[in-house]
Amino acid sequence: MSTATLDAPVASVSEDFLPLNGTDYIEIYCGNAKQSSYFYRTAFGFQLVAYAGPETGVRDRASYVLQQGKIRLMLTTPLHPDNEMTRHIAEHGDGVKVLALWVDDARAAWEATTARGARSAQAPTTLMDEFGEVVTASIHTYGDTIHTFVERKNYTGAFMPGYKAVDDGYTTEPIGLLFVDHCVGNVELGHMNEWVKFYEDVMGFKLLITFDDSDISTEYSALMSKVVSNGSGYVKFPINEPAQGKRKSQIEEYIEFYRGAGVQHIAVATNDIIHTVGELRRRGVQFLYVPETYYEDIPTRVGEIKEDLEALKKLNILIDRDEEGYLLQIFTKPVEDRPTVFFEIIQRAGAKSFGKGNFKALFESIEREQALRGNL
Ligand code: FE2
Repeated sequence: MSTATLDAPVASVSEDFLPLNGTDYIEIYCGNAKQSSYFYRTAFGFQLVAYAGPETGVRDRASYVLQQGKIRLMLTTPLHPDNEMTRHIAEHGDGVKVLALWVDDARAAWEATTARGARSAQAPTTLMDEFGEVVTASIHTYGDTIHTFVERKNYTGAFMPGYKAVDDGYTTEPIGLLFVDHCVGNVELGHMNEWVKFYEDVMGFKLLITFDDSDISTEYSALMSKVVSNGSGYVKFPINEPAQGKRKSQIEEYIEFYRGAGVQHIAVATNDIIHTVGELRRRGVQFLYVPETYYEDIPTRVGEIKEDLEALKKLNILIDRDEEGYLLQIFTKPVEDRPTVFFEIIQRAGAKSFGKGNFKALFESIEREQALRGNL
C-alpha cells in the first residue's frame, strides 16, 4: 500500500486531540447514482466494492461504494421526494455531502469536537454485522457538508454494516489513483476566516498557507485561500472565498450555482500522472486548458524535472516548484452540469504546496469557461 500522504508531520501527534488516519470516504449525493457510478468506474477506473439499497433492505436510498487505491467514493441517490437527500440535490445539484475521516475512536472524536463547539449531525452509532462493528459519528462543517468520523478497527467486511459486497461482473482498469491529497471548500464572501478558525479551534488543525488576492487574481477573477492541515498532515482542507475583482469571481459562480458553501474540488494523487491523465482523456474526461505559451517559461520557472516535458505539454499537465520539490497537476472541468464540483489529479515530487505558480494560467482558463457559460 502507498503511504497515505505527506511524509513529514506538520505538528506533534502527541498534542493532537483529534488524531486522523486519513480520509475514509467521500459521499456524493447525486440524481442517479446508478449512472454516476458507471461514470466513475468507466472513466476514472474505480471498482464497485459495496452497495446498499432496496435489494439489501435499505428502503430510502441506493448507495454505491467505489474504491481505487485508498480512495473511496460513495454515490447516493434518494428513492423518495420527502427527505433531506432529495432536498440537498434540489438545492445544490450533485454535490459532496460527507467528507468522512478515518479515526481509531469515533466517539472520542465526536466528543472532542462537539465539546469545542462543533454542531452534531449524528451522535456516535455502532453498526454491526457478521464482519464486526463500525462506529460512526458526524458533525456539521461549512454549508450542508458534514464530517463523519469512521472507526473501523473492529471490522473486516467490504465497507461497513448495511452495505453488501457486490460483484456485478463489470470491472475497469484502474488508472493509478492512490489517495485523497486534499479537499477544497468554497465559502461565502467574508467567511473564510470563520471556517479556518473552526478547523483550528474545533478540530485542532493548523494553518499551513495563506494566499491573498495578490497571489490569486487575474484581470477579472480573484479569490482568497487558506490551507489548514491536521496534526499528522494526512488531511488538508484549503478554504476559498471570493475576492473583489472586476467581474464575477469563479468562487462566486460556484456559490451561486451550488447555492451556498460546499466542496469545490477533490484532489487525488497518482505516482504516474502521464499515464493517469492519458487514460482519463482517452476515456472522455475533460480538463481545463492552458495555452501552449504556458510551457515557454517552464524550464526557467521550474528547472529540472524527471518527466518528459513534451508528454506533459501534450496532455496539458501543469508544473510548479516550491522550496521542497515540484508537483504536476491538472484540473477537470466540472463533473456535473452545474459549474460546481471538479477533480484535481496531482503528482508530488517533493513539493508540499498547491501549485501557486499555476494560479494565473488556471484562472484565466476558468474565466474562459465562465465566459462560455455567460457567467463572467
Ligand atoms: Fe487543489
